[in-house]
Amino acid sequence: MHTLIVYGSTLGNTERVADLIAQALGDQAQTMNVTDVTTEDIAAATRILFGSSTWGDGELQDDFEVFIDHFSEALLQGKEVAVFGCGDAQSYPDEFCSATDIIRERAESCGATIVAENLRVDGEPDDAEEDITAWAEALL
Ligand SMILES: Cc1cc2nc3c(=O)[nH]c(=O)nc-3n(C[C@H](O)[C@H](O)[C@H](O)COP(=O)(O)O)c2cc1C
Repeated sequence: MHTLIVYGSTLGNTERVADLIAQALGDQAQTMNVTDVTTEDIAAATRILFGSSTWGDGELQDDFEVFIDHFSEALLQGKEVAVFGCGDAQSYPDEFCSATDIIRERAESCGATIVAENLRVDGEPDDAEEDITAWAEALL
């Protein structure tokens, strides 16, 4: 199955998570920065894994904030979707990885089928490599 991994990342943490997911999924996965992805890329994918870190107070990462306006029924109806992202649970306990909830809700309301619980990575992605790999492998 063709899986497209689309991430928005300011400091590179969610990008690193995207790379670890791609590594676990192997040949079937393609990774793109949300700044480069087009609606045609999304339309061509069977399954899309959306990643965004959380900024401000529970908000989407800036680049993802721009892209989410493209979410529509025409784009996402019938797509399999799962969501991942980085955050900081200690500093933002009430808004920890809230961007993943925003994306999931928007994708669901556009008719996407959510195929996994949101993956929320606290702190350094490399410290969470086992959890990230397990999440990705469960999608295989
Ligand atoms: C100004 C600022 C606001 C933040 N707001 C949140 C937040 O609301 N919730 C959260 O879980 N993490 C928050 N974080 C933590 C970032 O999401 C975290 O550093 C993340 O690893 C960044 O990922 P990125 O490099 O992919 O952008 C914030 C960090 C900063 C510096």
